[in-house]
Amino acid sequence: MSRDSTAASFSLQRVFDYHQSTKHRFEAYARGPGRLDWANQPDPLRRYAGARRIVLQHVEPTEQPRYDAVFDPGCRPAAAPPNLQTISQLFYDSLALSAWKQLGDTRWALRVNASSGNLHPTEGYLICGPIDGLCDRPMVCHYAPAQHALEVRAGFHAALWDALSARYPEHTVFVGFSSIHWREAWKYGQRAYRYCMHDAGHAIGAISIAAAGLGWQTRLLDALSTDELALLMGTFRAHDAEREEADVLMACVPGRQALDETGLPEEAVRSFASLAWQGSPNRLSPSHIDWGMEDIAAAVRKPRRTTEHYEAFEHPPLPWPLDQRPVSLRRIIRQRRSAVAMDGQTGITRESFYRMLYRTLPVAGAIPFSSLPWKPHIHLALLVHRVEGLPSGLYLLVRDPAHTDALRRALTGADAWRKPPGCPNQLPLYCLIEADARAAARQIACHQDIASDGCFSLAMLAEYTQPLHRYGPWFYPRLYWEAGMIGQLLYLEAEAAGIRSTGIGCFFDDPMHDLLGLEGRAFQDIYHFTVGGPVEDTRLTTLPAYA
Ligand SMILES: Cc1cc2nc3c(=O)[nH]c(=O)nc-3n(C[C@H](O)[C@H](O)[C@H](O)COP(=O)(O)O)c2cc1C
Repeated sequence: MSRDSTAASFSLQRVFDYHQSTKHRFEAYARGPGRLDWANQPDPLRRYAGARRIVLQHVEPTEQPRYDAVFDPGCRPAAAPPNLQTISQLFYDSLALSAWKQLGDTRWALRVNASSGNLHPTEGYLICGPIDGLCDRPMVCHYAPAQHALEVRAGFHAALWDALSARYPEHTVFVGFSSIHWREAWKYGQRAYRYCMHDAGHAIGAISIAAAGLGWQTRLLDALSTDELALLMGTFRAHDAEREEADVLMACVPGRQALDETGLPEEAVRSFASLAWQGSPNRLSPSHIDWGMEDIAAAVRKPRRTTEHYEAFEHPPLPWPLDQRPVSLRRIIRQRRSAVAMDGQTGITRESFYRMLYRTLPVAGAIPFSSLPWKPHIHLALLVHRVEGLPSGLYLLVRDPAHTDALRRALTGADAWRKPPGCPNQLPLYCLIEADARAAARQIACHQDIASDGCFSLAMLAEYTQPLHRYGPWFYPRLYWEAGMIGQLLYLEAEAAGIRSTGIGCFFDDPMHDLLGLEGRAFQDIYHFTVGGPVEDTRLTTLPAYA
């Protein structure tokens, strides 16, 4: 065994151990602080003091494009060129503040991208060439949501930009994400790494959908190593503030050209080490507790590699043209909120249910999943409570039909695999058990009523051991990214249907597996979600995102 493969198998074991030890169990929750240390609460905003700031425009929602149009390859808006307005809009519709909430003297900001506990570990970056109205030379910027501004961390020469972007169409810009694990670990302890990666997935989904509204496509640059990502975003630099772990870079490309490239030239990337980096990051908490974030982050760091070895996606689901509702994409994006409680009464029609589920399928060119260079690894186990014309019970949406046989063997708890009534052929949905699943849904979601009081809740079942063995430990966060992207999309789908939803990171892992009769670890439950009629918290006042 080579030294590299020994290290990889050691890291893989650390990933498996991390996953097992961060499961919530009926007997005990994963290790965490128990009581919150408010004096040590992390600042939700990272700032780079001393970096020049470019204030972006507040581009308020318009009627066009329609929400449904961006998901239909035949109706997507024509590509707008990158300029001050479109770059402003890209961030305004993905990572910006969406509102402030107030209770008594306490105020807190919400954002367009959802985040576990509203702690927002994800930081956004822009790497671009000269852009009309924004900058006359290439630059790397950190995005500051509270100001809706870019903090210029480094400028660089046109020749370096040309080398960096040579494999991409003209007008491409790159958006990157990093995570400050401490923000989630402060509240959630050991399990926090999972939430950070869910949140990164939500942010990837948010950028993909906002970009689609501009007629742009997005693609993960997944051939880059973690070290290269840190060079490109400037997060490699030593400082005394909380570390940012580089996660991912996405190409945002105006137009529809085929995009198979997922890397950047090595030499150009290396040059970022010697840029004149500006700005010092703020410290977020006076002190820290080590919840093992660095251990799991180290185990999943990605080496540089091409992605040719990703398995092909053989049988994408069939297209199903859906009618277009008179709903504005950008209003839906900016009004998205988590339901804090569900009313236990609202139902939806089965057509509405099928439509939402269809949107989560990785059909050819589907937003946001076409950003991913790997085939889908996540299926949805649904607990249906209030869908008109459908019996309550456990259902399964198979997002990659190639896994149907493996799932049939693995889910030994199924009574049958029945096509539900009225279900279109395009939707690989099966009813496995007919039963009132409300008590189970609530209990498994850490006894949260939102899971039983909605129309349906769901568990995201990830194909687990096979991709981790095949690709390596660095694939672990990618499973969560895919889950987070499904989550961000479901949030919008619920809004578009006139109801609401909530991500659920707190669930009992193995009891969900037991409900499905799932033995072994071929599949693991990695995220939950609930969709239903919300109950507003009338004690709260809602204030505009920006004064
Ligand atoms: C990964 C993830 C896990 C979450 N887990 C829960 C949960 O277990 N229970 C809950 O009530 N809300 C949960 N939420 C909802 C967040 O608390 C909510 O997104 C956050 O407070 C921000 O509010 P907003 O979504 O309205 O912007 C989760 C959200 C995400 C993205």
